[in-house]
Amino acid sequence: MERQRLIVGITGASGMPIAAGVLRHLKKTDYETHLVMTRSAEITIRQETDMTPEDFRNLADIAYDNDDIGAAIASGSFKTAGMLVVPCSMKTLAGINSGFSEDLLLRAADVTLKERRKLVLCARECPLSSVHLRNMYELSMMGAVILPPMLGYYSRPSSVEACTEQIIGKLLDVFDIDIGDYKRWNGI
Ligand SMILES: Cc1cc2nc3c(=O)[nH]c(=O)nc-3n(C[C@H](O)[C@H](O)[C@H](O)COP(=O)(O)O)c2cc1C
Repeated sequence: MERQRLIVGITGASGMPIAAGVLRHLKKTDYETHLVMTRSAEITIRQETDMTPEDFRNLADIAYDNDDIGAAIASGSFKTAGMLVVPCSMKTLAGINSGFSEDLLLRAADVTLKERRKLVLCARECPLSSVHLRNMYELSMMGAVILPPMLGYYSRPSSVEACTEQIIGKLLDVFDIDIGDYKRWNGI
């Protein structure tokens, strides 16, 4: 049987440890990961981690150049289970909302929406302006899942790593991928 494909888009918002964790967890699953990163993501990776963009690419099964708008993930006929943009900058959020598909990441998100596949946006900015909130609202109305990296304290996280893992668990849970130590609420 063919492996299910999942597109992972990484943009220049803050949250690279989350993106790295998502790729590491996906590597342990049967999913085939298709990665596309923006130029700003590469800058933020260097700022927020000890990894290089190449390290990120090595965690994926297939990594694309963001300028390669003729790549497989640019077409709806290339079947995928959906796309996760993690982290998702406010610029990319605006691009997806307006259908401004000027690079491969934006095009792949546009395709995911038009094919009615799961599009999960780990949108990150603080505070949020009315423009950001409007873009999130409109994308939510189109069916995208807006899943910002928001902390929940009910699992009593003891470290930044534990908070990061909880967010990764929530993001992958949308695709029914269980990371193992994701803490679910089972009532008081
Ligand atoms: C270290 C760093 C952190 C950033 N964090 C954010 C952020 O959390 N949210 C955001 O929308 N933009 C953030 N930016 C700005 C974006 O990288 C910038 O708007 C960029 O143009 C986004 O382009 P992209 O969507 O093509 O990746 C950050 C930039 C840097 C260098």
